[in-house]
Amino acid sequence: MSQTIAELYQQIKDQLSPIAASQVQVNAEADWILRELFQMQPSQIFTQGDRMVTDGERLKIHCFMEQRVDKRIPIQYLTHEAWFYGHRFYVNPQVLIPRPETELLVEETLRRLKPLKPDTQVLDLGVGSGAIAISLSLALGKEAQVMGTDISPAALKVCAINQKLLGSTVDFLRPGDLFESVGSGQRFNAIVSNPPYVNPALKDSLKPEVLWHEPHSALFPPSEDPYFYYQRIAQESPNFLKPEGVVLVETGEGMTPTVSQIFLAHGFAHVETIRDYANIDRIVVALYC
Ligand SMILES: C[S@@+](CC[C@H](N)C(=O)[O-])C[C@H]1O[C@@H](n2cnc3c(N)ncnc32)[C@H](O)[C@@H]1O
Repeated sequence: MSQTIAELYQQIKDQLSPIAASQVQVNAEADWILRELFQMQPSQIFTQGDRMVTDGERLKIHCFMEQRVDKRIPIQYLTHEAWFYGHRFYVNPQVLIPRPETELLVEETLRRLKPLKPDTQVLDLGVGSGAIAISLSLALGKEAQVMGTDISPAALKVCAINQKLLGSTVDFLRPGDLFESVGSGQRFNAIVSNPPYVNPALKDSLKPEVLWHEPHSALFPPSEDPYFYYQRIAQESPNFLKPEGVVLVETGEGMTPTVSQIFLAHGFAHVETIRDYANIDRIVVALYC
């Protein structure tokens, strides 16, 4: 079957349409595929769109679309890239794909740390791809020390790749359960975390891209309690905070009132909730005095 690039581009959009959340997503993914597989910018469709697709290209696109549409593998895992806070991160199925709303956690943390105090130290619990820790480290520069830890050795390997790609200086600790790898004398100005918080009871409402392909240890807490990690972070973080240290955690929709109560119950002096750009209460900031 002979086909021009422009026809193939339209076919890609038609195939993506039933599985995408919006036309914006369809267009963005089709453009991404064009760049990835044809090294073509979308605007080149107008100048080079009447070129015929070769058999090799057709086979390549067929395999790619089979994985994306039939197997529902997220495009970020197929292309091994995810953009976060203006940086291109390497990702694979061993790590959660960093989400745009998590950028707010980076912004809020930076806002609270600046102007930098001498010897500023920040800890990211559950680093995944390293998106939060590396973005913080690049924004703060060498004046601050950012540390990161994760229970997953595979995730920490991804962090090492991203550290090299992006030239950051995060101190990634050996794999461990929450604070397990952090030295007992270590104290931080800020502890940040986007812990696993998806309620296991809501598993069936997740998109196949998430449920079938993202690591369940990054999505779900190890018990039926979606607040499992907030309880632990609120209880354990006072041992690792400097005076006036702050904890910033991302939460799921509707979780901030309970998360705030958890921090207050563990002796935090003040809590604040931050809304994301979709107007959803997303972050709890808890100040310890
Ligand atoms: C929701 S993901 C967040 C990843 C990344 N920080 C981000 O925002 O894209 C949660 C991360 O916590 C890690 N994790 C799960 N249980 C943990 C534990 N007990 N101790 C440390 N990390 C844990 C998972 O491996 C996963 O990388």
